[in-house]
Amino acid sequence: MKIVLIGATTGIGRSVAELYAAQGHEMVITGRRIALLEEIQKAFPTTKISVLEMDVAKTDEARAKMDEAEKILNGIDLVIINAGVGFQKATYEQEMNTVDINARGFTALAQWSYKYFVQKGGGHLVGVSSLASLTGSAYSPEYHATKAFMANYMSGLRMRSAKYNPKVYVTDIRPGYVDTPMTKQNKGMFWVATSEKAARQIIEAIAAKKKVAYITKRYQIIAFLLKILPESILAKVF
Ligand SMILES: NC(=O)c1ccc[n+]([C@@H]2O[C@H](COP(=O)([O-])OP(=O)(O)OC[C@H]3O[C@@H](n4cnc5c(N)ncnc54)[C@H](OP(=O)(O)O)[C@@H]3O)[C@@H](O)[C@H]2O)c1
Repeated sequence: MKIVLIGATTGIGRSVAELYAAQGHEMVITGRRIALLEEIQKAFPTTKISVLEMDVAKTDEARAKMDEAEKILNGIDLVIINAGVGFQKATYEQEMNTVDINARGFTALAQWSYKYFVQKGGGHLVGVSSLASLTGSAYSPEYHATKAFMANYMSGLRMRSAKYNPKVYVTDIRPGYVDTPMTKQNKGMFWVATSEKAARQIIEAIAAKKKVAYITKRYQIIAFLLKILPESILAKVF
């Protein structure tokens, strides 16, 4: 497969990149910290891996980088939009940054990818939203809101595929808690998975062309509860 992986420097994205690299898939991996991407490149010398510096908040530049990635790979089969940020009790600047990366940046890249796959006659778009897409949060309202945006956007794209483009697949990956730099400061986490375990389940869900996948799988139970519990109960936890 020819893969573009956006946000591959650390955490979940890095583990997914390493697994695909070990399987020999040709990849363009992106992020802002190039040196970390080059470490992955060096660790898998027999796999064709190209590195692109990309800040998804700079939307026009990021879309131009997608054109570049397409030229490098000479065709793309799979785009994974994993880049994201999240803060607890964020400042105004951090809240706006979250919107810029998780919502505006995501839209810029998902729109590019979906249109590209329609023109190509098929392909697979994967977005890493979150279990957080299913509820608000007292600690991080903007993060949960951007993840709900992503989930709803991908649902809309799947509806578009069902109507017009049956060969363009869209998978929404919804992790629960995963041990990564993003969650290092978090308290009260449970069922925390390693990024390696999360990556294995993500790759499995992508291969199965799942519409929505909870990572790890047992978070399906929490997802069910989030859909039925009232805000007054959810406010005690989130
Ligand atoms: N960990 C969890 O428990 C959890 C749960 C649910 C959902 N998620 C989601 O999973 C995804 C990965 O998170 P993670 O936990 O693995 O955190 P992480 O280790 O902090 O990784 C975040 C990734 O996003 C990239 N990124 C951030 N801002 C960017 C920007 N402006 N432009 C380009 N790339 C950017 C980072 O690369 P650079 O900083 O090098 O650019 C990095 O590769 C996120 O979307 C997150 O919301 C995580």
